[in-house]
This record gives sequence, structure tokens and C-alpha cells, in this order.
Amino acid sequence: MPMKIGILTSGGDCAGLNAVIYAFEKAITAMDPKVDLYGILGGYTGLINREYKPLKHEDFSNIFNLGGTILGTSRQPYKKLIQDEGRQKVTAMKENYHKMNLDALIILGGQGTHKTAALLSSEGLNVIALPKTIDNDLWGTDFTFGFHSAVNVATECIDRIQTTAASHRRAMVVEIMGNKVGWLTLYAGIGGGADVILIPEIPYDIDKVIKAVESAKKQKGYCIIAAAEGAMDKDEATLVKKERYQKRGERGEVTASNRIAKAIEEKLGIETRVIVPGHIQRGGAPSAYDRVLCSQVGAYAAKLAIDRKYGVTVAMNGDKIISNKLDDIAGKTKVVPPKHELIKAAKDIGISFGE
Ligand code: F6P
Repeated sequence: MPMKIGILTSGGDCAGLNAVIYAFEKAITAMDPKVDLYGILGGYTGLINREYKPLKHEDFSNIFNLGGTILGTSRQPYKKLIQDEGRQKVTAMKENYHKMNLDALIILGGQGTHKTAALLSSEGLNVIALPKTIDNDLWGTDFTFGFHSAVNVATECIDRIQTTAASHRRAMVVEIMGNKVGWLTLYAGIGGGADVILIPEIPYDIDKVIKAVESAKKQKGYCIIAAAEGAMDKDEATLVKKERYQKRGERGEVTASNRIAKAIEEKLGIETRVIVPGHIQRGGAPSAYDRVLCSQVGAYAAKLAIDRKYGVTVAMNGDKIISNKLDDIAGKTKVVPPKHELIKAAKDIGISFGE
């Protein structure tokens, strides 16, 4: 009997999902031309509702450098899946996996997706996961695919803002994606030449931020602040997320970027704008770096499937591609260590973290 493999993409999309699907198909059909591949549509939701389609060789042509995912995606929050009403969805996923006679499930996703992948694996499904997310916060891998593409986009946004900031002698707060972690803001902030980088892992002191803005303004006439979506000040850091959002709501502040911009205008009288590139950071073709990484991890996952090595996720460790047990990594967040060497390098070249 030919091996039957289902592939699904789950969680927020990013550049590189299709490149991984492409590489997986190329590699696995080279190893076993008889393998049958099925695309499960719209993430875990597709598995819950048994929405899928057989994938033919033609489905994989011209997708290598295509953004998004040809399979579609959705969010099925893990927290809800493990509550009483969610358990029915887990049962449906198991039943549909068996009804489809799958031998294995290839799951491309980030943190939440990996928690569910670990759950499905513990329920007896043969799972191989792959590390996707622009946030780069998945435990056990140096990089996730999608991250470097997003870094390129966010860096370009900051680059383009530099000229407007200089022309108008303004302060510009560029809000970079990343609710829990600051990897994307750190890389794009350094790459785009920001004067101030604010990330959730290093709660800022607004007076220090103001000082840094003042000094940049004095030196060159304008200032660029790269602030992560999840940036917070030292007081906010003592609150849980819900309280933090509630307090911001009461003050009419949507995100940290709005708070920071308001403070700069009030304390320094400098005209300040907030720029939110948002989902643009997830769109478009994968960067060259990501295309290479996607090729590597896709090919590696194919070999794992051929070897029937399940309950794992593919990871990058230095210059090697490895696999980690899902149980060892699921539910752990890879945050930016405040003493990370990139932070040190950024400080050495005069970037302030508002500490
Ligand atoms: O997938 C990661 C991410 O882009 C985060 O950086 C961001 O906070 C979140 O997803 C946005 O999610 P949504 O697409 O559901 O608005």
C-alpha cells in the first residue's frame, strides 16, 4: 500500500510555507514515487471538518517563491481545544485522520500549532511538524522559516521611514509585529538603523526613551523608534496582559507605540507619527535565506516521514538541521535573552533600549 500523508498549515501565515510544501513533495517523491499526498485545507479546521484534497504533482509547480499557503490556514487556539467543548474537535481530528487512512500528518506552524501537534501525537497520530513563524519564538530552533523574510520587510519599512523622518525632522515610531517576543523588532531595528529599540523582554523606562529621542534629534534632527507590538514599560510589566490592555483602554491608548508617541509629543514637543506595517510583514515572496532554509527543512521532514520517525519537529541548530521531540519543545517560548549578543552589539553602536 502506498504511504498516505496529509499536509496542513496552521496559525498566522508567512512567507515560506509554500516553499516548504514544495521541498517536501520534491524530496519525498524522489525517495518514494508512490507516496500519496493530501492537502488538508484551512489548518486544523480542515482536519476537524475533513476538508482536504489529493495533491497532484502539478499542484506543486510554481509555488516555491509564492507567499501565503496554497492550503489555507486558520487559528484553532490550543487553550480552547483542551477545554470541554474543544475536546470534540480533538476527537474529530483523530477520527478524520483515521477515516482518511493517513499514515502521517505533516504540520507547518508556530507555537500554538506545535502544542496541538504534540497533543495529536500523544493521542496516537503520526506527526512531523515544521517550524514556521515570523516571530522566531519557537523553542529548540535557531530560526523559524518566515522570520528572515519578515525581517527584510520590516527593515525596508524602517529604511523608507528614515527619509520622511529626516525631511520632516520628526520622531517616527515603527510598530513591528511580535506580541510576546522581540526578535523581529531587534533584527529589523538594527538592520533599519533605528535609534531606539523597544521589545517585550526589556521593559522600558519612558524617561530613558525620551532622553534617547532628544539626543538623536539633537545629533541628526530626527529619531526612529522600532517598537514591538508587545513592548511595555516597567510599570506595565508588573501587570498581567489582561490588566495591561484594560489600563491602556482606559487611557485611550491602543498599543505601546501610541503611548510612546504621545509621551514624545507631550514631553519634547516633537511632531511624532506611528507607523504600523502590520500584516505586510507576513506577505510576499520568501527571502533567499528563507528559501534555502525551507528547502532544507522540507527535505529533512521528507526523510523523517520515509524513516517513520514521528512525534518530532524539524529544527535548525547551527549549520545542521535536526529534529526535536514535540514533547520537549511544545509550550516553551524562545524569548530574546536580555544579555543576548545582538543586544550588546546594538548598544555598542549607540542604540537605546530605553533601560
Ligand atoms: O503569526 C505571528 C503574528 O504575526 C504575530 O506577530 C502577531 O502578533 C499575530 O500573529 C497577529 O495575528 P493575526 O494574524 O491573527 O492578526
